[in-house]
Amino acid sequence: MLYKHITVFPDQAVDYLNPVPGKVYVDCTLGGAGHSKRILERISPGGTFIGIDQDLDAINNAHKILDCYKSDIHLVHDNFVNLSNILSKLHLSSVDGILLDLGLSLNQLKNSKRGFSFNADEPLDMRFNINTKITAKDVVNNEDKKNLVRIFRQFGEERFAVQIANNIVKYRQKKPVLTTKQLVEIVYESVPAKVIYKQKIHPATKIFMALRIFVNKELEMLDKFMKNAAELLNSKGRICVISFHSLEDRIVKHNFKEFAKECVCPPDFPKCVCNKKKIYCVLSKKAIRPQKSEIEANPMARSAILRVAEKV
Ligand SMILES: C[S@@+](CC[C@H](N)C(=O)[O-])C[C@H]1O[C@@H](n2cnc3c(N)ncnc32)[C@H](O)[C@@H]1O
Repeated sequence: MLYKHITVFPDQAVDYLNPVPGKVYVDCTLGGAGHSKRILERISPGGTFIGIDQDLDAINNAHKILDCYKSDIHLVHDNFVNLSNILSKLHLSSVDGILLDLGLSLNQLKNSKRGFSFNADEPLDMRFNINTKITAKDVVNNEDKKNLVRIFRQFGEERFAVQIANNIVKYRQKKPVLTTKQLVEIVYESVPAKVIYKQKIHPATKIFMALRIFVNKELEMLDKFMKNAAELLNSKGRICVISFHSLEDRIVKHNFKEFAKECVCPPDFPKCVCNKKKIYCVLSKKAIRPQKSEIEANPMARSAILRVAEKV
């Protein structure tokens, strides 16, 4: 089946990354390889490209699109949090650009049959990498009520977290929740009809997003990655991150800000004792959002935020 994805910020993100021939670039989230192809168009022939995705479908698809470029290309099935190890295995210690386009691809949503969509009746899985242990089914059936409420509130900002968690617990006393359809039915029973009627989004949107973020440890991985990424960049190397969730964006913004700080000693100190040095120069002073025309052509772009930093 053809791999589906419409790239968000297709040219703008790559323009910011500024790939130049002969250098080394990493796309940490290959997806449909839309950004990767554009990077390779700029560095090939020559240069080194590393593409990472924790979904094997993305890796297999990327080979079909990228293998024709005459660069040193490595496509790696792994979590981007392991970038330092991935580079070591390739005998590389640093790179000239890193791109992250977070979240899930249209292909995962529509074709993967892993229960990412509330519009299909599929097994409750939601793992990006099918080799990891915990599925959404495990979470929904095994976590206690308190934890379910926490997950739905923290990662989904769901107003009816308590009611939904209550009804999940009641339901699973009779039979397990195995499919997306069962979960959607529980959500419909938990949210007042007048709220469902007024809402612009499907009532299960936030619950599905919260479960996906929890199952794939998305925020934890991003924060860990952001704390280590600067070490892997060469001077003048850039990092571009596209996020789709306010919690993701907060992590990106916070880490950029921390790495952009200079000495933090009180002004009356005669000499710096903190030894803090500016590591990043933030190029996106404000969050970069897609143009109206991009959102009209690709509704998945509506919540996208791009942030960019350059290593000093
Ligand atoms: C929005 S898509 C990327 C689309 C891509 N930029 C394009 O233009 O086609 C996000 C991809 O990132 C992958 N992904 C998410 N978190 C990841 C992680 N921690 N490590 C590796 N891949 C990850 C997902 O499996 C998915 O394929």
